[in-house]
Amino acid sequence: MPNLEGKVAIVTGAGRGIGREHALALAEAGARVVVNDLGAALSGEGHDDTPAQQVVQEIVAKGGEAAANGENVADFAGAERLVAQAIDGFGRLDILVNNAGILRDRMIVNLTESEWDSVIAVHLKGHFAPTRHAAAYWREQAKAGEQVRGRVINTSSPSGVFGNVGQSNYGAAKAGIAGFTLIVAQELQRYGVTVNCLAPNARTRMTEDTFDMGAPPEGFDPLDPANMSPLVVALAADAAQSITGQVFHVWGGAVNALRGWSADELFSAPEGWEPDALLAELLARFPDGAAPPGMLAGMQSAGGRSLQAAD
Ligand SMILES: NC(=O)c1ccc[n+]([C@@H]2O[C@H](COP(=O)([O-])OP(=O)(O)OC[C@H]3O[C@@H](n4cnc5c(N)ncnc54)[C@H](O)[C@@H]3O)[C@@H](O)[C@H]2O)c1
Repeated sequence: MPNLEGKVAIVTGAGRGIGREHALALAEAGARVVVNDLGAALSGEGHDDTPAQQVVQEIVAKGGEAAANGENVADFAGAERLVAQAIDGFGRLDILVNNAGILRDRMIVNLTESEWDSVIAVHLKGHFAPTRHAAAYWREQAKAGEQVRGRVINTSSPSGVFGNVGQSNYGAAKAGIAGFTLIVAQELQRYGVTVNCLAPNARTRMTEDTFDMGAPPEGFDPLDPANMSPLVVALAADAAQSITGQVFHVWGGAVNALRGWSADELFSAPEGWEPDALLAELLARFPDGAAPPGMLAGMQSAGGRSLQAAD
């Protein structure tokens, strides 16, 4: 296991599910961890400090160091306080894992404004806000001549990169997070910060409500949320300094470095297109039409197995 001793990590939404596993794994590798969790319901409502505190207790019971934080990651000032807690409390910040998330699924025809706004806020702004404050800290460190090996590890979703029906709010936020990763990776490279992204698959309250997950099998369980964390620890290692701007689909032991929006079918007219000629070419080149294959096909191509939608 990479040695993360001396490093300080923040994991958002670490009171449960995948984030909890990231926090435990980073602590096991030697990092001191700020365990952030608002303690919200799956829909984002409510506040409970208990989940974050329990994860802190688990880490401390195993001999690690951790502190709880109950800020809402979508609150810009709250995210600043979260980053400050790591720096003031543990003396530095090395690793930021943006993981907190909520769901408010509905087909687009019925999706309400608040369902759209809340999901976009927690995921997209909830990635921007902590990253923004951490980035400012790392730039300051770099300008002061410190050797920075900062890490931002974001959380997208198969729903965002492949497109899942009924999740236009969530998927748009998650696709946005993948795009945010590509851009911020380029911006922060000069300061010694890598920015990568996971598209996870795990049995948590988030997926148990939406999919028929089946019971955990005997032996290795591909959907154990702990399977998401070895990649986080690996990316946090000093040796991973040159790996940045990647979006990894993770299913059990299958980690796939996705290539999104790469160039493919080219329609080229040296003097420009007339609409009727372009339409004829589109129809000729797509004789069976062209439509997204859907999330499950994308997941399977990336090394995952199919999930069945729950009735
Ligand atoms: N479980 C999966 O298969 C799966 C698939 C794709 C993406 N994801 C993503 O992985 C991340 C973790 O999901 P999970 O499955 O562990 O879900 P989860 O509901 O078990 O955990 C999410 C945690 O985030 C916390 N949270 C919610 N809003 C917050 C806020 N504003 N500020 C701080 N904390 C907040 C919740 O209290 C909760 O403990 C999410 O971003 C989710 O969208 C999960």
